[in-house]
Amino acid sequence: MTSPVQIGPASGKLGVLLVGLGAVSTTTIAGVLAIRRGLASPIGSLTQMGTIRLGKRTENRAPKINEFVPLASLDDIVFGGWDIFEEDCYAAAKTAGVLEPAQLEQVRQELEAIKPMPAVFDQRYVKRLDGPNVKKGKNKRDLAEQLIADIRAFKQKHGCDRMVMVWAGSTEVFMKEGPVHQSIASFEKGLEQSDDSIPSSMVYAYAALREGLPFVNAAPNLTADVPAMLELAAKMKSPLAGNDMKTGQTLIKTVIAPGLKARLLGVKGWYSTNILGNRDGEVLDDPESFKTKEESKKSALDYIFQPHLYPDLYGDLTHVVRINYYPPRGDNKEGWDNIDLIGWLGYPMQLKINFLCRDSILAAPIVLDTALFMDLAKRAGMHGIQEWLSFYFKSPMHAPEVYPEHDLFIQLMKLKNTLRYLQGEDLITHLGREYYD
Ligand SMILES: NC(=O)c1ccc[n+]([C@@H]2O[C@H](COP(=O)([O-])OP(=O)(O)OC[C@H]3O[C@@H](n4cnc5c(N)ncnc54)[C@H](O)[C@@H]3O)[C@@H](O)[C@H]2O)c1
Repeated sequence: MTSPVQIGPASGKLGVLLVGLGAVSTTTIAGVLAIRRGLASPIGSLTQMGTIRLGKRTENRAPKINEFVPLASLDDIVFGGWDIFEEDCYAAAKTAGVLEPAQLEQVRQELEAIKPMPAVFDQRYVKRLDGPNVKKGKNKRDLAEQLIADIRAFKQKHGCDRMVMVWAGSTEVFMKEGPVHQSIASFEKGLEQSDDSIPSSMVYAYAALREGLPFVNAAPNLTADVPAMLELAAKMKSPLAGNDMKTGQTLIKTVIAPGLKARLLGVKGWYSTNILGNRDGEVLDDPESFKTKEESKKSALDYIFQPHLYPDLYGDLTHVVRINYYPPRGDNKEGWDNIDLIGWLGYPMQLKINFLCRDSILAAPIVLDTALFMDLAKRAGMHGIQEWLSFYFKSPMHAPEVYPEHDLFIQLMKLKNTLRYLQGEDLITHLGREYYD
């Protein structure tokens, strides 16, 4: 097959710069280090374990995704990042308490070598946190330039051919798009004037895009999803993806809801609550950070159920989402969902889900996959919003004229069809008439 798209080679080193070296980042890094030494398995990662069907079912072609498209090898990844705490990645992983001490010991030296660069941080945007490893600057523009200098220095020091940045920092307070976010010019003026409507995460996104790096927002903050960033991404040919990784409860929601909808079962109420005791839980205990998360978590059901098309089934759905900070559980979240559904002739039924999950264990493969796919996108000349990566996000970035796609299975089809398209293979429609003609 001839590909319509020229994709640059995946050779050389890929720098993965993580903003926030907390539970998610250190679990990702330690995991990749262990996996590449053959000590653990990349379970949950589509780029490492997934296959892709090509052609007709009778052809029996199903290569591994990482043999089908040119992705960077795990051996070629170099990790770095920023945090407001000075701990190296080994100490930070210990603090996060996700991975077993014996497992961390196996990759201790490499983890200790990753020390956080001083962060751009302002407590106004994350009320429950404060730390010593923070940059000083005369304004936000100066801070952005310091981040750009960090990116360049990292690239040179580690001999990286390409780089990707992922925001895996804490959830910032809820913010709305404002005048400063409307264009590169207004944004740069805002940086100069240290405008309050530019949170720390936007300073990182700006620095990444200015350097032509792909940027992923793994949190729900208003970070890259504003016109100024889209304009900058187009200008610098940087791919963008986000927002907020789809892990525990929302992942299950976007599996169950399409199933109920497919069978036209009505839903009157969906109550989701969970307990979690990590630092993320502590930050989300602040109502302003929780609001950012709540907005992100609540949108999925509306889009999946399409109440405007099915008012009788989903027209008066009560959807409640709660997160309770409960330290004894650490990173091991427990979530409960109660779904009040209705069937034939309006008879009520209930479905209960109790998910004892591990937040960062679910998140780490997403960080890895999105970093690798975004690097692929950059090499394939795809820039701006990468909607084909919606699969990974709770509130996927999307073009203004279309609604976001939340159904996990449609998202996966979109992702795989994008890979087929990139390599000049037929898209799969699942029509299958030819087997019966
Ligand atoms: N784990 C999941 O399942 C999941 C799912 C979706 C989204 N998220 C989001 O991912 C993010 C990270 O989660 P986590 O569990 O690793 O949290 P965490 O609190 O363990 O780590 C976040 C780290 O970011 C650092 N940080 C905060 N602001 C920063 C800044 N401006 N610059 C540099 N560092 C900064 C903090 O010091 C902390 O070390 C959170 O926003 C969380 O909401 C997590």
